[in-house]
Amino acid sequence: MTIDVSAQYAAFKDTAPRATAPAMDEMQGSDILAIAAEVRALREQGRPVHNLTIGDFDPAVFPIPTALSQRIHKALDDGHTNYPPAVGVPELRKAITTLYRRELGLDFPVDSVLVGSGARPPLYAAVKCLCADGDNVIYPVPSWNMNHYVWLARGHGVPIVTSPETGFMPTAAQLLPHLSTARIVLINSPQNPSGTLITQDVLGEVCDAILAENARRRALHERPLFLLYDAVYWQLTFGESKHHTPINLRPEMAPYTVMVDAISKCWSATGLRVGWCVAPPWVRDKMQQLIGHMGAWAGRAEQIATAALLEDPSLLGTYMVDFKQEIRFRLDGIQAGVEAMARDGLPVSCLPAAGAIYLSVRFDLIGRTLANGTTLRTDSDLRKWLLHEAGVAIVPFSSFGYPDGSGWVRMSVGSITRDDVAKTVTALRDALGRAL
Ligand SMILES: Cc1ncc(COP(=O)(O)O)c(C=O)c1O
Repeated sequence: MTIDVSAQYAAFKDTAPRATAPAMDEMQGSDILAIAAEVRALREQGRPVHNLTIGDFDPAVFPIPTALSQRIHKALDDGHTNYPPAVGVPELRKAITTLYRRELGLDFPVDSVLVGSGARPPLYAAVKCLCADGDNVIYPVPSWNMNHYVWLARGHGVPIVTSPETGFMPTAAQLLPHLSTARIVLINSPQNPSGTLITQDVLGEVCDAILAENARRRALHERPLFLLYDAVYWQLTFGESKHHTPINLRPEMAPYTVMVDAISKCWSATGLRVGWCVAPPWVRDKMQQLIGHMGAWAGRAEQIATAALLEDPSLLGTYMVDFKQEIRFRLDGIQAGVEAMARDGLPVSCLPAAGAIYLSVRFDLIGRTLANGTTLRTDSDLRKWLLHEAGVAIVPFSSFGYPDGSGWVRMSVGSITRDDVAKTVTALRDALGRAL
């Protein structure tokens, strides 16, 4: 006999007292995934949509490196199917130190490396392990997901509203008034959602402010202030923009820095779940225990394959060059299209593409009444108008904690083809032409 479990749930649900803890009511899902579901629904109705929403890659357009796939298969064939050590397999931990020595000139001890299933577990573990209940965590807005990690860790978020003039990066002057009461400052560069990088000068000033604050605390034997540096897009920089790390700029920052990284974005491998962080070993130790309890480690075969490619980048062949070229083609194409529209007097502008897979675009339409008589009052109205009238799906900055009504949106190019670039620009131009 087969038991109909759905019927059991249905009979129980309406009359039962709540099961989940009341505090869980405050936990928020991802806005972006909700938008993605709306896009899927439209597509299922047969409506063409240029999908520039999620920060993911279409594997048909952006496959993972062939050598990575081959090495994963080989590792599985070789029997690497049991639990990995909770801290990461030794080959990968060593390979991560090789990567940073070779590419960044940073010589980390293996002891500082912790592997996780993507960048998320190390990010969450860092916040959870450093932050006591009610501790302040400073992060810029717009920014990706930090509010959720702070909530989960029972910390108190201090969002700093940034501006396009500083590339949506916080300045040291903005952070300074909050440092004496903070436990963590989060910086993400190249940044999701803006596609911008923190400059050497600003990062240096932020580090100086953190070092000064920690000198004060050390004298008082107080717990230090940490910089959580999310660098998952560091290999995806374009043009003149250069990636900087806190420890390169100020080596004394090492005891106060947790730097997070992953293969998710730089090898288009979001579904493989290999990420890591480097942290002072006494912090890494606690983070490792947390990741171990959650079982949020990366698959053993994927770790072994990643190690091989990090140790010997020649295995990647021309992958990185081609991958970056393709991303850049899309970002530059949309940027050029937006700039051409602006020259023609249409109310749209953007920041130059600098890194990651995102372009910051602004539609100066909030508060405007369109030809069909509707008035766009919020960023959500703008998003829906772009989706339904232009067939272009984007995520507004308000979904990343930015104040509503700015008209700034994120366009992500990981799921579009080369041909989609011109089509997206034409769709935007046509919709704006019809509306104004
Ligand atoms: C800035 C940033 N950090 C971390 C992550 C998470 O990466 P992973 O998929 O490796 O968990 C993302 C994913 O979108 C991101 O944009």
